[in-house]
Parts: sequence; structure tokens; C-alpha cells
Amino acid sequence: MANENEKVLKRPPVVVVVGHVDHGKTSLLDHIRKTNVVAKEAGGITQTIGAYEIEHGGRKITFIDTPGHEAFSKMRVRGAHVADVGILVVAGDEGVKPQTKEALKALQDSETPFVVAVTKMDKPNSDMERIKNDLTANGVLLEGYGGNISYQGVSSKTGDGVHELLDLILLSADLEGLEYTPDVKGRGVVLEAKLDNRRGNMVTVVLKDGKMAKADLIATPSAKGKVKVLENFLGKQEKELVPSSPAVILGFESLPQVGEEFMVGDLSEEDLAKVKKFEAKKEEVPTAAQKQVIRVILKADVAGSLEALIDLLRKIKLPENQALEIINQSVGEISDGDVKDALVTNSIILGFRIQANKAAENLARTHNVLIITDEIIYKLVERIENDFKELGKSKFSGELEILAVFSAKGNKQTIGGRVNRGQIRVKSWIEVQRGDEMIGRGKVLNLQQKKNDVNAVDAGNECGLIFESEVVIKVGDKLLSK
Ligand code: GTP
Ligand code: MG
Repeated sequence: MANENEKVLKRPPVVVVVGHVDHGKTSLLDHIRKTNVVAKEAGGITQTIGAYEIEHGGRKITFIDTPGHEAFSKMRVRGAHVADVGILVVAGDEGVKPQTKEALKALQDSETPFVVAVTKMDKPNSDMERIKNDLTANGVLLEGYGGNISYQGVSSKTGDGVHELLDLILLSADLEGLEYTPDVKGRGVVLEAKLDNRRGNMVTVVLKDGKMAKADLIATPSAKGKVKVLENFLGKQEKELVPSSPAVILGFESLPQVGEEFMVGDLSEEDLAKVKKFEAKKEEVPTAAQKQVIRVILKADVAGSLEALIDLLRKIKLPENQALEIINQSVGEISDGDVKDALVTNSIILGFRIQANKAAENLARTHNVLIITDEIIYKLVERIENDFKELGKSKFSGELEILAVFSAKGNKQTIGGRVNRGQIRVKSWIEVQRGDEMIGRGKVLNLQQKKNDVNAVDAGNECGLIFESEVVIKVGDKLLSK
């Protein structure tokens, strides 16, 4: 990125914590924050945003704190772009669980270096040796076990091992040689975006390169504005921030999308094109409640082709019960990043005058992601129309009626229901329908039939599930997978 004349400086690591439900991610983050944030000067302001900065041994570390679900899944996929180092949390009394594997895969796919924190070591039934064997069996090659991945037992209750864990994080950051170039246009990632009654559009970001100052222009692919107020994570106003500081920005004209990249400064078309490559604007095509929504990620060789493709999709004749939602659009070959996006959002990828690279092809094959490409627009249309018809009959679509709501912890809700038609699958994104209205979306984190974990439940069967959604589920709601 930097040429020889450009000055580069060291920057602190940005860290995410991932792992299975209840394995102690939040407790660990809370413990680290309470013991290490230099918050005294801010008069004990409680931090309310999804990232914070600590000091350990005179050096800074930025932690990304339990963001909203969408942000989290996006970040897991785009881990490499947000986080420099991961902490894979494994509970000492439980070992590797399904979401540990999922988190591990996300870290590996995004090539994010990570350290393992074996949590809850104060519990009498925690067993380090067992966890180490478990991890090794799952391909995590620990130090001293044929690999170089560091691990540390910790207790968020007593604080044991946390200091050492922070040492390991800094060590692993040093190995990465994290740097930034102060003279380039500031650049980073949107972590949270919300409309505050009092303050307007509040956007939390983490700066990854360059600098960001008050009064700078700022843009993401979907929103722009001017940095009117720049605050650090403690709510203190700043004139300027450097990487890897989290910040709150007031001054966006509209809310950007979570997970998007942003850039600051007087941005040229060329600059913006660079940002667009990361994550393009989300275009919502109106959808009616009962429709099967087909999500698409669009890729084309140049901006003009992309526009042509979008125009055409708007005009395409879909069966009555189908609607189209454009999740992402960008210029450039279809990459494995696009396939990962498609996986998380349940989308298909449409490429016009563009092909998928090898990595994308392989990933798409393993995960059954549909990629349709063509050089000639009317052929592409024909294929889209045909394939969409097939998708309409897809066995993955299903409807589940909620019969019971057992408990809720944050936005994770334990619920029970019956599959009325089709099939409901674990890890799938699902829409929530109340009456005739679609009121939100969520993800099936866990699916159980007769108390056993299963991957799918077919029509006619009852099941229990852990559903993660901002929507508070009620008895009688329907979950629709499409
Ligand atoms: P989700 O956000 O729901 O995925 O959970 P999490 O991974 O954030 O776990 P959380 O920190 O909420 O901890 C889950 C439970 O384990 C809570 O009841 C904690 O009190 C307990 N717990 C977490 N860390 C420790 C620990 O170090 N020791 C003991 N004894 N209990 C712990
Ligand atoms: Mg938590």
C-alpha cells in the first residue's frame, strides 16, 4: 500500500472474540474492559458503543464488543478486514462445540491470526488437557502440539490468566507487523449505525488506516456526510483520531450499512471505487410479505454493465410468489469474499461479463452457492428466469409456526414450533412473519428435534430452536425460510 517515501507507523491491534454460545465471550470482554480501560479521565462515562480501547503494558488494544447479529456475521466473514487478531473462546468445562467450529472456520477462511482462550478455568470440572486434545482433534495446532497457535487458560471470575492472554495478543500483533500510513486518506469499517433521538445519525467506526479529523468529508458506498462531531469510545470529543481507534461520528446524512468500509477526505471517483469493492450499496426492491425473496449479489466488469444489469433485473418477470432483493453490487471478478457474503445472506451471485476466480469457484462448489454468469445480457436473463423458477421449488424453503417461547437471552431466543411445510435448516437466515406482515429477520443458531441437535427439520415435525433476532418472537409468529 505504502510506497517508499510514505511514512508508516505502528498501529494497535483490533481484536474480536468469537466462540460458542455461553462460553464466556461477554464475561471476558467485560473483565478486560473493567480492569484495563483508562476511563478515569472521562469521569466514569459508561461506554455504550460496540468497541473499546484498553492499555496493556503501555500499549493499546482495540476490542470489538458483541455487536448486533448482522454485524457479527458480516464481521466473521470479513474478519480480516475488521479484526487483526481473533480470540477463539473455548469453555474449559465444555470443549469444542458447533459454534466453536464455525468461529474457527471463519477465522481460518479470513486468514485472521488468533489465540485460544480456554475460559472458566476456575470451575472445578474445567480440564485444560482435555480441551487441548479436543482442539488438536479439530485441527487447531497448538504450541507444543505440533503447531504455533498460542493458548491461555483464563477465568473472568478471578481474572487469572487474563494478563497473560493480553500479552499473547500483543505478541501475535507484533508478528503481524500492523502498520498504518498517516498521510493517506483515512479508511476503516462501520461497526454500528443507529438513529439517536437526540443526536441524529450515530455511526460507530474503527479506523484502520490514515487519519480522521473533525470536519472531514466521509463516505461509504451507501452513505455520505461530514464529520461534525468526532468522539472517542468514551464519548469524549476529539479533533483527530488515528488507527486503530474506535470512534463515534455524527454528521452522516443517512445511515450507512454495518460492515461497510468508509473513507474520509475529499474523495475522487477512484477513491470511492476502491471502497465499493469491499461492500456495495444495498438496494431494496419492494417485497410483499408472503413472497419468496431471492437475494442476489451482482458483479460486473464495469459500472456501466452493473447499471444495465440492475435495470434489467427490475424489469424481469418473476413468478407471482417471488421477489428480488439485491444484497450487494460491485465491479470486479467474483471472489471468495463474494461467495462468503452469499453464504451468510443466502444469496445467489449473478455475474455479467465477469467470471469467478478459482477460490470463489471452489468455495461455491463446497457450499452449494449458485453462481450464474454470462457475457451476453439476454442469455443471462434467460438463465436467471429459468433458475429462479427452479429456486421457487427449492426444498430449502419452509414455514415454521411458533408454539412456545421458552426463554430469551439478549437477542437469542429459545423457542419451539412445528414445521408446517418444506424444511427448516440450522444456520439459515429466516424471516419472521406476524399476521400478514414481515417484521424482521434472524438466524437459526441451533435446531433440535427430540432434544438432539439436527441440521434440518422437515414438514410435520416439531422442533426446538435457538433463534437470534432483534425481533421478540411471540407464539403464533411464523418463521419463513426462503
Ligand atoms: P453468548 O453471548 O450468549 O454467546 O454467551 P457468552 O459467550 O458471551 O458467555 P457469557 O460471558 O455470557 O457467559 C456465559 C455464562 O458463563 C454466564 O453465566 C457467566 O457468568 C459464566 N462465565 C463466563 N465466564 C466465566 C468464568 O470465567 N468462570 C465462571 N465460573 N463462569 C463464567
Ligand atoms: Mg455474549
